[in-house]
Amino acid sequence: MLYRKYRPVTFSEVVGQEHVIKTLQGALTTGRVGHAYLFCGPRGTGKTTIARLLAKSLNCEQKIKDGDCDNSCQTCLAVNQNRSLDLIEIDAASNRGIDEIRSLKESASVAASGGKYKIFVIDEVHALTKDAFNALLKILEEPPAHVVFILATTEPHKILPTVLSRVQRFDFKRLNPKQTFAKLKYIVKAEKTEIDDEGLMAIAMSSDGALRDAEVALSKVIASCDRKNKISTENVYESLGLIPLNYYPEFLGHLAASDKNTALDFINKTYAAGIDMDHFTSGFIEYLRKILMHTINPAVLVSVGEELLEQDLKIILAYSQTLTQQQLIRLLSIFMSAKEGMKSSPIPQLPLELAVLELVGK
Ligand SMILES: Nc1ncnc2c1ncn2[C@@H]1O[C@H](COP(=O)(O)OP(=O)(O)OP(=O)(O)O)[C@@H](O)[C@H]1O
Ligand SMILES: [Mg+2]
Ligand SMILES: [Zn+2]
Repeated sequence: MLYRKYRPVTFSEVVGQEHVIKTLQGALTTGRVGHAYLFCGPRGTGKTTIARLLAKSLNCEQKIKDGDCDNSCQTCLAVNQNRSLDLIEIDAASNRGIDEIRSLKESASVAASGGKYKIFVIDEVHALTKDAFNALLKILEEPPAHVVFILATTEPHKILPTVLSRVQRFDFKRLNPKQTFAKLKYIVKAEKTEIDDEGLMAIAMSSDGALRDAEVALSKVIASCDRKNKISTENVYESLGLIPLNYYPEFLGHLAASDKNTALDFINKTYAAGIDMDHFTSGFIEYLRKILMHTINPAVLVSVGEELLEQDLKIILAYSQTLTQQQLIRLLSIFMSAKEGMKSSPIPQLPLELAVLELVGK
């Protein structure tokens, strides 16, 4: 799998999460490392990756600059080859109970085998039972000096305040499409294959800020195509069942021009091409929302976390000037009902057709 092969082995290879890396590097270079960290954030954004990097750097015999490990000493190699005895990774989703935490406590009381520190990474820590959580809390109150805990979770709101007050918390961010694109491009080059930029961008946009999802999608595309030829954007759309990025502005163009026949044709062509109508409608609603946000204030769009492509932004800008807020709100509510109607419609494309007729009329 590409995502394992391209897991960063140094801090400098991590994409984004600068706030986390900077603080950790600072702690590593000054030797002021905490005993308990909490890594929160969406899946596939680097929590486990950075936990391992921290573990390696803590025990590396030959640190290089900025707290980064050398990846060549015995302790680093052991971590990279998943055979380190000083890095203990526990999946709390499948080891939820008090017994696991008790054995963790026992193991924590024994000194590290090779390096200086013993590092416990507890993934999905929110899944622990109440008793297990309390037992963990006890350990966090008085952690042995040679132990570092890294708790990771995608659901920080489920973590008790008593735990929160004993850990240093880092909130991981979703990666924006440009960051994801850059890493995909790097992998494609390293894999000596060729994929159109637009195709890579489509993968980046579809991954919702989770780099692992994007890398898994890329593996899928490469596996389903003939590597000897350049992989086209169409190949990407086809192998992932994605909706081409230009479909939304095209459809909106027909609606804005009140071109009923072309809009209806468009829906049927899209349906015939095998695109899921529900999926298309959701995407279209999301697209309309971006334009609406843009009419309110371009800065709002950035603050709600959407990073847009230049070309996308140009089209959105144009529409946010030709369509009024009222029109956009009407469009949104009509397509929201169309989406609702799809649940009971015997004909998948019918709710969209009705939406077009309601908007464009006779
Ligand atoms: N910030 C990042 N920089 C570079 N690669 C990343 C980053 N985030 C994720 N990846 C890629 O995705 C893979 C999975 O990342 P990781 O296991 O660190 O995610 P996670 O946040 O722990 O996710 P989960 O919540 O599902 O456990 C990595 O092996 C790497 O290839
Ligand atoms: Mg993880
Ligand atoms: Zn090392």
